[in-house]
Amino acid sequence: MKIKIGIFDSGIGGLTVAARIFELLPQVDVVYFGDTARYPYGPRSSKVVQKLSYQNTRFLLSKKVDFIVVACNTASAFALDHLKRKFNTPMLGVIEPGAKTAVRYTKNKRVGVIGTVGTIASKSYSKAIRKLDKNIRVFSRACPLLVALAEEGYINKKATTMIVQEYLKPLVRKRIDTLILACTHYPLLKGVIARVMGSKVKLIDSAEEIAFELKRCLRAKRVTARSNERGTHAFFVSDVPEKFVQVGERFLGRKIRRVQRIEIDRY
Ligand code: DGL
Repeated sequence: MKIKIGIFDSGIGGLTVAARIFELLPQVDVVYFGDTARYPYGPRSSKVVQKLSYQNTRFLLSKKVDFIVVACNTASAFALDHLKRKFNTPMLGVIEPGAKTAVRYTKNKRVGVIGTVGTIASKSYSKAIRKLDKNIRVFSRACPLLVALAEEGYINKKATTMIVQEYLKPLVRKRIDTLILACTHYPLLKGVIARVMGSKVKLIDSAEEIAFELKRCLRAKRVTARSNERGTHAFFVSDVPEKFVQVGERFLGRKIRRVQRIEIDRY
C-alpha cells in the first residue's frame, strides 16, 4: 500500500525532521508545509499556535495525506491534543518519542530539556517524562536565540559557543545525564551543544526520534511500502520561497527542487 505523509512546521526547521524521514522511509510520499508567513511559533500563545496548526492540518489534508507529522516542537506542545480531537487522521508529534527515549537513557534520573519559550512554558516534556517515570527530575531552559543562530549558519562561531554556554550553564550545574534537543533547529547545533555539555551527557535529537517512531507506527499499521520505488517529495510554503530554499537545503542536507507558495488563510 502506498502511503502519503504530511509534515508541517512553522517554517524551515521541520526540514531536519523531513531529512530523517526521507532517510528512514525513502519509499513514502511526503508533502511538507512550512508556515513561513506566520513564523515563528516559539514566542506565540497556545491559542494562536492551535489556530495556525489547525489550518496547516487542513491544508495537508487537502493534499490527501494519510498521516500527519507535527514536526514543530512548539506546535506539538500546544496543538497536538487539540488537532487529535478535531481530526480523525492519525498524527504524531515530537514530544512523546523524545520523552520515551530520554526515559530509557537516563541513569541518574536527571533530564534536561531545551526548546522555544512556548515549548518550555507548556511543560509538555516534563509531563510526558513524568508520566512514564515519576522519579525523574526534569530541568528545562528556553533558548530562543539558538533558532536564529542555526538559520544564520552560525554553527562554529565563538559567539554561538558563548551563547550556548550561557544557556546551558544551569543545566550543567544540575548534573543532568540526558538532554532533549526539543526544537527543530537544534540538530544543527548538536556539535557545540555536545562540547558544552561534555561527553557524559546523552543528547536526544527529537527529529531522529519522531522518524523512528513514525517507522514503527507505519510498520504496526502494515503500511510500509515494500517496493523499491522512491517516494515523491513536495514542498509548500505560505510566503515567498527564496529563503526557504536557500536556508532549507542546509537543514535538509539535499537540494530542494520545487517549492510552491499557497494562501494558508484559505484553509
Ligand atoms: N519549529 C519551532 C520549534 O521546533 C522553532 C521555530 C519557531 O519558533 O517557529 O519549536
